[in-house]
Formats: sequence, C-alpha cells, structure tokens
Amino acid sequence: MGQESDVTACLPRPRRVAVVGAGRVGSTFAYALLLEGLADEIVLIDIDRQRAEGEAMDLNHAMPLSNPVRIWVGDYPDCAGADVVVVAAGTAQRPGESRLDLNRRNAGIFNDIIPRIAEYNRTGILLVATNPVDVLSYVAWKASGFPAQRVIGSGTVLDTTRFRYLLSEHLGLDPRNVHAHIIGEHGDSEVPVWSLANVVGMELDEYCRRLGCELGEETRAQMAKQVRDAAYEIIERKGATYYAVAVGLLRIVESILRDQHTVLSISSLVAGYYGIEDVYLSLPAVIGRAGVESVVHLPLDDGETEALRGSARVLRGLLDDLKSNAK
Ligand SMILES: NC(=O)c1ccc[n+]([C@@H]2O[C@H](COP(=O)([O-])OP(=O)(O)OC[C@H]3O[C@@H](n4cnc5c(N)ncnc54)[C@H](O)[C@@H]3O)[C@@H](O)[C@H]2O)c1
Repeated sequence: MGQESDVTACLPRPRRVAVVGAGRVGSTFAYALLLEGLADEIVLIDIDRQRAEGEAMDLNHAMPLSNPVRIWVGDYPDCAGADVVVVAAGTAQRPGESRLDLNRRNAGIFNDIIPRIAEYNRTGILLVATNPVDVLSYVAWKASGFPAQRVIGSGTVLDTTRFRYLLSEHLGLDPRNVHAHIIGEHGDSEVPVWSLANVVGMELDEYCRRLGCELGEETRAQMAKQVRDAAYEIIERKGATYYAVAVGLLRIVESILRDQHTVLSISSLVAGYYGIEDVYLSLPAVIGRAGVESVVHLPLDDGETEALRGSARVLRGLLDDLKSNAK
C-alpha cells in the first residue's frame, strides 16, 4: 500500500481546466478542448447546474471516440489546482438594455464569482471571455488579487482571426499566411493595424503591387466594418457567436499549457503604452505558462495611435462608470 502511494506521488499532476459559465461559449470551448486532448480534466461550473449537467453528459459521450478526459459538473472548490480557469459566465444584453447597464450587470456577476474562484485557486491563470471582455478582465484582475500577468481577456483574438480571414479571402491565400492584428477594445472602437499587416514578410501594399491585387481605402474601410460588425451580423442570424471564440480560447489555453510563447492579441493590463494607463485592452502579447510574458510594442502610425488612445478612453469611461455606480 505504502509503495503504491509512493508511485502515485511521482505521477505528473493532471492538467485541469475549469470552465465557469457552461453556456454556448463555455461548452463549445470545452468541446474543442476535449477534441484537442489538451487537458486531463475539465470541470464545468454554472449557476444553472442542470444545463451544465446536460453539457457534461453530452461531452462525456464523445470521449470513447476522442480523448480520455475526466469531465464533470463541479463547484468553486473544484477550481483548486486548475491550470486555467476560463470564465464565460454572464448574461446577454436584454432588449432595450444599454451597454452601460449590461456592463454593470456582468460586473456584478464577476464581483461575486471571481473571489469564489480565487478562494480555491491562487496560482492558476484566469482567462475571461464574458463581454464587455476588456472591462470584465479589469474587474477580474481587481477582484482576484492576482498579479495582472495571470489575468487575461480573450480580447481581440477573435476580431484578429476575422480580419485575417477576410484579408485572406480577398488575397486568395491561406489565412495562416496573412499576418495582421486588431488591437484596442473588443468592440466598436477596435483598431485594425493596416500599417503593419504583411504577407511573406512583405507589407500589404507591396504584396498587392507585385501581384496586381486591389486593396484601396474603400475596400479597407469595408473590411474593417465587416470585422467590427461581425458579431451583430451573426447574432442577427443565429442568436450568438461561439465557434470561433471557442477556438480562440483553445489557442490561448494551448499556449499557456504548452508554454508556447505565442503572440496573440489578448486583453491585458496596459501601463504606459502610448500614454495609456490602467485599462485592459488588446495588444499583441507573448503568452506562455506564466500568462502574459510581455506585451509587444508596435510602431503604430499616427492615425492608429490616436485610434488606440480613443479606444482606451472608451474603456476608461466604462470603468469610471462602474466605479461611480459602486459608490
Ligand atoms: N470575448 C469574445 O470574443 C466573445 C465572443 C462571443 C461571446 N462572448 C461573450 O461570452 C459570454 C457568454 O456567451 P454565451 O453565448 O455562452 O451565453 P450563454 O447565455 O449561452 O451562457 C452564459 C452562461 O453563464 C451562466 N451564468 C450566468 N450567471 C452566472 C453566475 N453568476 N455564475 C455561474 N454561471 C453563470 C448561465 O447560466 C449560462 O449557462 C457573453 O458575455 C458573450 O457576450 C464573448
């Protein structure tokens, strides 16, 4: 018996990922995680336990044909030992509800759930997906007491993939060969960084000149609008978006668990970037086992710098509203 427990002590600790909020985004992410076989354990936590149970049952039934992962419905104590806790809990905008009201409502939910996560997990990484993701990542950072390095928002990872997809369609290329970023708010004030977009190390303009493809101002403006409005367009058609964001979350979690040092446009605490202070917003950052390893300082042009500062002002306004509402 004693020998047996010695052997167990030598085994590597199972990789646990906790998902708080097993709705469309949370459960689609869990599904992607199961198929990828990245985690040994996935625990689903949701205020609607019955819904989470249904998702866990459905996911477990895919296991014999995918990967052996332990999936169960738990509660906050199960966040203990999780390498990453993905938070996708929240409520959607009600008809007629303002953005400020939704912001206040979801911030209220975060001020309840984040301390409960942090009570049982002091060493993992918090990955926030709930909208408005930049504001709620800031709230999660404050409410957890974690170092900012370990509190990440999915930010514009999704917008960036939409941008790369549209560019690749226009250029007739594999999207993995098109490099471009959306930065700033995950929302209406987001900023496409045209000046640094490139293909095969060539500036977009240069690539288009050589290949004779058109990418003028009008096309660019149209593309930026399509990226910005993509969520509205999808929600109008099917009620919610969840596949692409789930893959974005998977990519972030993969980089953390495998310590890949991947550059992703996640939302993180910004301090002293083009004069921007004390907000969470998206910039390309290096992600690894420790969370945010560094934020990449981009040589933006004047228009992009101004737009990024504008985005930071929008987010600061939402944070200030929360502060004054809490008084
Ligand atoms: N960051 C992104 O790129 C991105 C993309 C798509 C959606 N989202 C956001 O993700 C969030 C979730 O979207 P969804 O479509 O999955 O919504 P959903 O309604 O399907 O799921 C939300 C889940 O949260 C749970 N929940 C609510 N309050 C809770 C609490 N206090 N504790 C625990 N669980 C709680 C609900 O029971 C529900 O299961 C939304 O805020 C949405 O806007 C973000």
